[in-house]
Amino acid sequence: MNSRAESLSLPGQLTGRTAIVTGAASGIGRVTADLFVRRGARVLAVDLHADGLAELAERIATPDSLHTVAVDLTDAGAPDHVAQSCLERFGAPNVLANIAGKAGDGPLEDTTDEDLDFYLRVNFGTAFRLSRATVPHFPPDGGAIVNTSSTFGLVGVRGSAPYSAAKGAVTSVTRQLAADLGRRNIRVNAVAPGLIATPATQAKIDAGLFDDSVTRSRPLPRVGVPADIANAVAFLASEDAAFITGVTVPVCGGWSTTRYRD
Ligand SMILES: NC(=O)c1ccc[n+]([C@@H]2O[C@H](COP(=O)([O-])OP(=O)(O)OC[C@H]3O[C@@H](n4cnc5c(N)ncnc54)[C@H](O)[C@@H]3O)[C@@H](O)[C@H]2O)c1
Repeated sequence: MNSRAESLSLPGQLTGRTAIVTGAASGIGRVTADLFVRRGARVLAVDLHADGLAELAERIATPDSLHTVAVDLTDAGAPDHVAQSCLERFGAPNVLANIAGKAGDGPLEDTTDEDLDFYLRVNFGTAFRLSRATVPHFPPDGGAIVNTSSTFGLVGVRGSAPYSAAKGAVTSVTRQLAADLGRRNIRVNAVAPGLIATPATQAKIDAGLFDDSVTRSRPLPRVGVPADIANAVAFLASEDAAFITGVTVPVCGGWSTTRYRD
């Protein structure tokens, strides 16, 4: 038995790890950045919104463990800027958690070319381009990339074509990069959140828009919370998942596989 298999630690520990977390100003990304620091990582927290990043920094008990970078990840120079910021502040990254993204819906006939380009760029392009910019800087013993797909990337849902297609691309590139990077000991996995209460969804949840289509029809009927996803991201980023690569893990109370009915 090798030493990794023999070593047992607390689950999801990231002690001594350097992690880049995108989408860290809000919702799932913010809770993930916070959890990563509490699990022992140094975190480069990246987002479009400087205010949200500043609020995150105020909450962190160990400020030396967090550095923030406010940048639009769809900008041409953004991935290299993030990679360089990480190298300068904390050194080589061991973990990249691509969480930034944006959902949207509407009928196919009303979807413009601009919509198609936007959802692909913000949900798929950000993860792809940041992976490309950071992978050369991962240390020789590798690390982990965790992407954020969606249950909409796994299951067809009416009225969400460009967003769902972009999340499907995230699931696909997760498998692809796992193949490309395995020999470098970089694992690549994804989470596929179901409905999670965040600033992006709270108003629709409060209005009851998902009660029938999501909440009541899944085996675990409560609304998900960001920590449900953050815990899964931390697990996939940690050595506990040392032999897992190329998979997308649905974290959705069973909605992507099972329908509950009375
Ligand atoms: N909340 C859900 O129900 C749900 C379900 C499935 C998938 N997801 C996915 O989870 C991720 C997080 O979603 P959330 O609900 O926490 O949303 P959120 O809006 O609360 O947070 C998303 C963050 O990403 C940032 N971001 C967006 N575009 C960016 C860009 N171009 N550059 C830098 N930062 C950018 C935003 O500023 C925001 O802080 C997204 O990828 C989303 O698609 C969420």
